[in-house]
Amino acid sequence: MNVLVVGGGGREHAIVKSLRRSPHVSRLLCAPGNAGIGRDAELVPIKAEDINGLLRFVREQQVDLTIVGPEQPLVNGIVDQFRSDGRAVFGPSKSAALLEGSKVFSKAFMVRQHIPTAAYSSFQKGDAEAAEMFIAGLRPPIVVKADGLAAGKGVSICPSRPEAVEAVRAMLSGGLFGSAGESVIIEEFLIGEEASVFVLTDGERYAMLAPAQDHKRVFDNDEGKNTGGMGAYAPAPVVTPDLLKRVEAEVIIPTLKGMRDEGAPYTGCLYVGLMITQQGPKVLEYNCRFGDPETQVVVPLIESDTAEVFAAIAAGRFDPATVHIKDASAVCVVMASGGYPDSYVTGKRIEGLDVLDGKEEVTVYHAGTKIADGDLVTSGGRVLGVTAFGPKHDLATTVKKAYEAVQHVRFEGAHYRNDIGKKGIMRGG
Ligand code: AMP
Ligand code: GLY
Repeated sequence: MNVLVVGGGGREHAIVKSLRRSPHVSRLLCAPGNAGIGRDAELVPIKAEDINGLLRFVREQQVDLTIVGPEQPLVNGIVDQFRSDGRAVFGPSKSAALLEGSKVFSKAFMVRQHIPTAAYSSFQKGDAEAAEMFIAGLRPPIVVKADGLAAGKGVSICPSRPEAVEAVRAMLSGGLFGSAGESVIIEEFLIGEEASVFVLTDGERYAMLAPAQDHKRVFDNDEGKNTGGMGAYAPAPVVTPDLLKRVEAEVIIPTLKGMRDEGAPYTGCLYVGLMITQQGPKVLEYNCRFGDPETQVVVPLIESDTAEVFAAIAAGRFDPATVHIKDASAVCVVMASGGYPDSYVTGKRIEGLDVLDGKEEVTVYHAGTKIADGDLVTSGGRVLGVTAFGPKHDLATTVKKAYEAVQHVRFEGAHYRNDIGKKGIMRGG
């Protein structure tokens, strides 16, 4: 089968590498991809947001299956457009992708379906005064979220009421995130440890992948600004087998049933972002896609043929018993450009990757790289995801292996966190 992966980050590199193992994949393509992906798949110079261009390409090149990485084309309806053209595609429909595309929708959905989440209220443009009155009755910190997609920057954790009022005003005026911020959620601050659970589903049947933990802040000990994610590991011991059962019963089953009942069955990968609180798991957010960098640790742990699994899901004939998870752990350390997540320079030469090339149990996923004048150079904020694999119940060994690998890689200004996986090790993972 000819398979196209849409997107060009570390997540897509991990998906491409996994698909490459499948004997069913004859031609593997990625649009637009990056320099690392270009070593594992044919690159197609079409942007992930160009749905018409992608569809034209799929028709011309007889692509049998398309797997969509990023949220924007999903929220814009790529799956609906492909399906109405008779094309097999892995991902949720536009109405199901609203679970990520609109926080107002997803919060109201969770309340309707009795799914545990932070208490909240929503406000629209023109409601600023009502929002201020609501804030006056809350105890800080106060969480303010833009309704729509804001490239991962739509959440403000406000240490005081005036800062919450300021955040709400900036969003509702449309000045901060444009129309994505013209409705806002104000919600209770949850205390606990975060975890990400991915579910593969054809709307009816589902399989849960290894629970993972992202590291969103730029510096060690969760300090500094929020980023797209500075590293991840799986399985995350904070999600014990008992807790995973609770997540399944209290979140996953009611989410999939609720979406079916509401006429928008969810297909593809559902990302459930959780806070593990003292009262149990609560949903922080849904995403309508695989997470980045969690995919870099979760997808390689799938032992099964992922091309078969994704194709079965796209065809609505998924058998969850075909999904086997390896008895192993994985740790991904993201190497980022100097200055990231603020402004950063690109075009820096990357060196040392050749040393890691044939190394067992280490894979470097490319996120922001390109070839310029024959050299491999940086082209984004997050540049590489240096990933190691090791024994399931010895996360410390896997972490050590990942950091040993990181030592070989150099580019000017490179920075990374030194404590990826530390919480997992402290929990005895
Ligand atoms: P989200 O995009 O909704 O996942 O939010 C981004 C990050 O903000 C999350 O990963 C959490 O670290 C934090 N966050 C979001 N909502 C809350 C909340 N209600 N309580 C505490 N932290 C939160
Ligand atoms: N790792 C966070 C995300 O993919 O949204």
